[in-house]
Parts: sequence; C-alpha cells; structure tokens
Amino acid sequence: MASDLSNPILDALSKSEGPILSNEAFPSTPSLHVKSALDRLGSREMVQYEAINKDVLVLTPEGEGIAANGSQEAKVFEAVVAAMDGLKIKDVAGIVGKDIAQIGQGNAFKKGWIKKDKDVFRATTDSIVDETKNNLIKVKETQTLSDDKALTELRKRKLVNVQKAITYRISKGSKYAKELVKEETDLTAEMLQNGSWKTAHFKPYNFKAKGAPTPTGAFHPLNKVRQEFRSIFFEMGFEEMPTNRFVETGFWNFDALFVPQQHPARDLQDTFYISDPLTADPPREDPENDPHRPKSVMKSTTPDKKLDYKEYWENVRQVHQDGKYGSIGYRYPWDADESLRLVLRTHTTSISTYMLHKLAANPRPARYFSIDRVFRNEAVDATHLAEFHQIEGVIADFGLTLGGLIGFMEVFFAKMGIHQLRFKPAYNPYTEPSMEIFGYHEGLGKWVEIGNSGMFRPEMLEPMGLPKDMRVYGWGLSLERPTMIKYGVSNIRELLGHKVDLNFIETNPAVRLEKE
Ligand code: PHE
Repeated sequence: MASDLSNPILDALSKSEGPILSNEAFPSTPSLHVKSALDRLGSREMVQYEAINKDVLVLTPEGEGIAANGSQEAKVFEAVVAAMDGLKIKDVAGIVGKDIAQIGQGNAFKKGWIKKDKDVFRATTDSIVDETKNNLIKVKETQTLSDDKALTELRKRKLVNVQKAITYRISKGSKYAKELVKEETDLTAEMLQNGSWKTAHFKPYNFKAKGAPTPTGAFHPLNKVRQEFRSIFFEMGFEEMPTNRFVETGFWNFDALFVPQQHPARDLQDTFYISDPLTADPPREDPENDPHRPKSVMKSTTPDKKLDYKEYWENVRQVHQDGKYGSIGYRYPWDADESLRLVLRTHTTSISTYMLHKLAANPRPARYFSIDRVFRNEAVDATHLAEFHQIEGVIADFGLTLGGLIGFMEVFFAKMGIHQLRFKPAYNPYTEPSMEIFGYHEGLGKWVEIGNSGMFRPEMLEPMGLPKDMRVYGWGLSLERPTMIKYGVSNIRELLGHKVDLNFIETNPAVRLEKE
C-alpha cells in the first residue's frame, strides 16, 4: 500500500474547525491515494466526504521554468539595465539566448519597459514587477487565478493548462476518532491465550466486496434429468419410494414378482449374486422392526392391518409351485433357499413390490415412483453399462384398465416432450398384459424404445393380500436413455463414471438449440 493517509486525514480534521478540502490539506497527494484512505475511514463511519469535480490550473514545464527564474521580458529588461548605456539590439540574443530574446523583447516593449533608440534598447524605468512570474507562482500555489485577462495571456503563451481534478470535502463522521487503531483481520490462538482479543479491534466484514470468483459445484447431467422426472411425478400426485436398498433377496427381486426360479433373467448372466453373505435370514416374526429395511416415509391415513410375512412367503411358494387364486402356477418344486439368495437388485420393481405389500395392510388408491440405480451383468458397450438408473412408477386403484394405462403414458411422456407413442405387446413374468412403449423422437427422426409397462398379474398382487378388484399399473424406463437422447450423447461412458464432463449440458449443441 502507498503511504497511508488515514491518520493524516484524521489529524487534519482534529486541527480544523469544519470540513477540510483534500486539495488544500494534501495538495501534492494523488487523489487516488486520498480516495482509498477515505474509503477505509468512511466504511468505519470515522469520516464523511463528498467529491467535488472541478477544473484546476497547472503549470506547463515552461511555466514552471518562469515561476522559478523569471519571465523572458524580465530577463531582457535586466540585460538592458545591465548594459548601462543601452544594449545593442543585435547583441540581445547573444546575452539572454535566442528564444528568450525573441519573446522577451516584444513583451518588454509592449509593457513599456524598454524603448528603441537607433540600434540600441534603453530602459524606461528603474524597476519593474514581473507579473508573469508572479501570476505563475500564484497558479502553482492555488491552482487558480482570479485575473481573467492575465489567465488568458498565460494560456495563450502555453504557460498554464486546465486540468480536471477531484477534490474531496471531508468532515468528521459519527465514529470520528483522532487515530485509526490497528485492526486485526484474524482471531489467532495467541490472542485467545494472552487475552488480547478482549481489547483488539477487529476489521469489520466488507459485505460489499465482490470478492474473487469461487468455483461452484455442478449437478451431474443425470441428476438434472432425474430432477425433471421427479417434478413430473410429484406434479401428478406420486409419492417417492425409499430405494436405499441395493442388495435384495431373490424373494423381493424375483419370487414375489412371480418370476419362476428357472427364469433366464435369474441366470448368472444377468444377475449379480452376492457371495458374502450368500443368503439372507428367513422372514422374521416382526418384519416391521427389521433393522435392514428402511422405514417408509409414507404414512397411511388409517391404522394398518398387521402384515404377516410368513403367510405372504407361503402364498408366494404356493402360487409358484401349486397354483392359487385361480392360477395353475408354474408347477415346479419351489426352493426356499433360492428365495433367500442375495442379489444386487436387477430392477427397482423389488421396491415397488415391497411397497405394494405394505399397501395391502390398508388397500387404497396409491401412486408411487422411484428413480435409482439397478445392476445387470451385461456386456459393457457404448450404450450399456452393468448399472443404470431405473425410473419406476406404479399406480394402484380399483377398476383400472389397459386403456387407462395407455392414456396415462400419453400424458406422462407428453410432459417430457414426447407426443407420439406406440405400444407393442411384450412379455414380463409379472405383468399381463405387458407393453413396450415406443416414442417418436423429433430430433432423431425415428421411433425409439422408451419403456416397459404392464398391469401386474393377480399371481403377484393376491399373495400380498391386496383385494381381488384392485389393479396396479407398473412401468419402468432407464434414466440414461432419455438423457442420452436429450443431450445427443452417443456413448454412455460420457455420462457415467470418472470421464463425465460436468459442463457438457451447458456446452452441448443440442441444448443450445433448445434454448434458442
Ligand atoms: N421391471 C421392468 C424392467 O426392469 C420395468 C417394469 C416395471 C415393467 C413394472 C412392468 C411393470 O424393465
């Protein structure tokens, strides 16, 4: 910092009756330095100040020379006086210098100091007053000159210039003190130990400072799209399911969904099985207090009937092995151990199943959704990873029909900007009928598969204890797929993993187009 003017300003104020002017109190200090000291004192309310813009006069280098040594005319006059008996005109330049002679003799003439007598100059008076020099000294001291005629002449002779200058009128502030005490910027361990913190003056925070730009966090692209889906679900009256359960039993991931134990999807090809521990405990007497099961945040409005997991387990065994609820079942020996094997969940439908079973304690229309990670042992390529995020929704109600599911999908996907849908019959062990959903993508100009859906089978819902006339829609899609389409990403590895570019949404041309 340049020499700090804070204390000199406070000092000048203490000696003055009223306000002080910076150009008078500190004539040779650049106004920038004055300003920084004033800011410092002003922020502490020790002074008040206002800026006054005005024009000031400053000497040119030539003017400075005259202020110090006298004007050209005075020099010529002196030379004439010194010559005693007249100064030969042709000798003037030799004595005072050519430049001075030229300007000086004309001016000395005009002022009537000298006269011409044949080829010599003679003085007409004994003494003169060097007005030019005196005026320049006045200007140097006060930056002004009240004699307009004299000023015009000085400016014509290029001895002074006009300059813009800021002057500060400074007065005492409400917290004026004679001295600016040293201000601490840190509370140190030492200050705490020696007690000096009690009397120390701490520098106040400057909340007006813009500060250095700090790096801020960025949402992962998938999170942004996830957020869009979440708001669509919430807008449509859905509740979010607790999905913090990545390791599931075969029971919740498959058996409860009426997926037969020899189904190819359970094959080691697709499912990641957990090796340690290999299996889960059998169903508990009091499953609601199972410490491994996250508590649902959803509250029912009427008291729940007590859920019997042992009975549910037995119902699932029967419906697979022997048939029940009007279904002939798969007719194979159902293996309880297979049900207890631990897997990384292959879909979040395991969570939906758990929530639907809870719903059976108090059956009522319900809309649930979740968006979370699922795992499949697939060959990794540009569009497939061994894990992805599944968007899942279920709607439970009485009297639902397939037409209602199609209608719902049209509304749901329209909110994502997909307005043309096609439905293709498909197969899921747990839904009947099942439909693959295709959407026409305007940007890509083609039909793309966007989801899988269906109405859950009675073989899945009735073992839970849900009423016979309750129907449940279910659908699932991946979060990655719409994200890749939306942002024109062709390789899924650009979207997940350590190579993801968090700025790509902002820099992506597809996004720019949308904004335009
Ligand atoms: N579980 C299915 C999948 O992983 C999605 C789905 C959920 C289908 C519910 C129908 C009903 O693709």
